[in-house]
Amino acid sequence: MKDDFREILFTSEQIAERIKELGAEITKDYAGKKLMLLGVLKGCFVFLADIGRHIDLDCEIRFLTASSYGFSSVSSGKVNIEKEIEFNVSGRDVLIIEDILDSGITLTALHALVAKNKPASLKTCTLLDKPERRQVPFTTDYTGFICPNEFVVGYGLDYGESYRNLPYVAVLKPEIYS
Ligand code: PRP
Repeated sequence: MKDDFREILFTSEQIAERIKELGAEITKDYAGKKLMLLGVLKGCFVFLADIGRHIDLDCEIRFLTASSYGFSSVSSGKVNIEKEIEFNVSGRDVLIIEDILDSGITLTALHALVAKNKPASLKTCTLLDKPERRQVPFTTDYTGFICPNEFVVGYGLDYGESYRNLPYVAVLKPEIYS
């Protein structure tokens, strides 16, 4: 499978180190509060499992499902999100956990959906941020790494539902997806 990648962008050691720092920052910022970690499936599942174990607070873990890429390497521009949130976010301190902020379309839609339900506070945390790809302005509160404008997979990120289980983030060779 390594032949599918041009390079490893973030190793599992670099990711683990950065997640430890982010977890400590979040623990400090929300001290004394009960936090709701709201994961965006499917890409978040590895990141949430790892960062959750570095947040030393009482956390409720919830998930929403959103997708816009399907089997394509570019966003369809249309986000499929669960229309209603089936748990109570009203009055809660909510932290949305995402694997990647790319065009900004998904997080903009999700942020609006959660905000409508009147949380006490609402912040976002993404492992990767690709600022060069932004189509709608969005800034995260916690960011793992700034990512170059490359097609990346691994650590939850897929291409056609493959590669999510890689312990690192790698750049996929263009011939794989074009
Ligand atoms: C990916 C990723 C984010 C979104 C970010 O999800 O997990 O949710 O794209 O891209 P954007 O900023 O351009 O909206 P995807 O649609 O691939 O679904 P998945 O999480 O099931 O892989």
